Amino acid sequence: MSDVFRVSRRVQQIRISATKLMPMLAARVGGCVSLGQGVPSFRTPEHIVEAVCRALRDKADAGRYTLQPGMPALREAIAADLAARKGYMVNPDSEVGVTVGAMEALLMALLTVVDRGDEVIIPSPGYASHAEQVLMAEGVPVHVPLRADDWGLDVDAIRAAVTPRTRAVIVCNPGNPTGTVYDDADVRALCELALERNIMLISDETYDYMVYGGGEPLSPASLPEMRRHVIVVNSFSKKYALTGWRVGYCAADAAWMGELLKVHDAAAICAPAVSQYAALAALTGPQDCVDDMRAALSARRNLACARLDAMAPHFDYVQPRGAFYIMARYTFTDAPSDMVARRLLEEGRVITVPGASFGPTGERHLRLSFGMEEAELDEAFDRMAAWTQRVVASGGLGG
Ligand SMILES: Cc1ncc(COP(=O)(O)O)c(C=O)c1O
Repeated sequence: MSDVFRVSRRVQQIRISATKLMPMLAARVGGCVSLGQGVPSFRTPEHIVEAVCRALRDKADAGRYTLQPGMPALREAIAADLAARKGYMVNPDSEVGVTVGAMEALLMALLTVVDRGDEVIIPSPGYASHAEQVLMAEGVPVHVPLRADDWGLDVDAIRAAVTPRTRAVIVCNPGNPTGTVYDDADVRALCELALERNIMLISDETYDYMVYGGGEPLSPASLPEMRRHVIVVNSFSKKYALTGWRVGYCAADAAWMGELLKVHDAAAICAPAVSQYAALAALTGPQDCVDDMRAALSARRNLACARLDAMAPHFDYVQPRGAFYIMARYTFTDAPSDMVARRLLEEGRVITVPGASFGPTGERHLRLSFGMEEAELDEAFDRMAAWTQRVVASGGLGG
């Protein structure tokens, strides 16, 4: 007789990402400091908390399901924000969907666009969950290396990787885990390729606000000719210190949105009402909290880079221009990144994320997040430097 415990092929293929596993391992080890998960240390801004408390007290609907695509006022605020920041004009009634974080929006996009066996190009290293979600949609992730010298978008390599089965490219700009901001010219070249070969772009813009020195990267959605070829995904998590509230959105041409929302309905019905109130207060309220967080992250980036510079020649890296991650390449051992990250956690009590979990191009790197406060950053780098010295002095990791 066959066993009832038979896991679907879909789920057999996927894994919990190392970004989430490392803190679980750290909880067992105890006493760790984190350069791991991308959670900035900031508290949810006071005016957002206040607005949600007021809504819970005064609004009868604050504890109920909202309309399936999201609260109308929030969709209007999102459409206005997209128009102002990116010149992307969407109809809030038919082209915006509020989601359970960017994560649900990405999954909606992939489940809607990808059929079994379709190929999805992921510039590599890339956000680990992108590949897992492609697998969940029964697609085939195709990792195409970013440029080796600056982690830039290698459009020629992407072009060479396109096959008749290529269905989509995931663009994450600024990039997690590399902190790259792609050149506008490269984004334009990718858009031309997408139009020429009829490929969808899934544009993950979670970190669009976080460019050091200001400005925003070019969104493919800013180009009117891309309207039917792009699904925009965005998040309130990092920009407004709302990671735990689980709220984000997708925006796309009405033809796509009608289909995307079917997945949303089947998966979540709607995003949490309280979190939608939080997102509305975030978008329509004062923006100095974003400026303050950006300034703090900028100082933390300088600190993290200085600390890594002091660890040369054992580490090198490309300075991030956006987001709050550094892919640090280690040169003191040939051991795989899984092992290096695990040993650093167990022996040095520092959480990092193994580079290989972001695709094959990430091997021999550790992803370091510098979202935490400066004192914790300093402590983490002190421990990492001391552990590296011990490893080097003892002649390597030695199995
Ligand atoms: C590139 C990228 N996309 C999406 C997400 C998920 O965002 P959310 O919290 O809105 O689901 C993250 C979170 O780290 C991310 O780094």
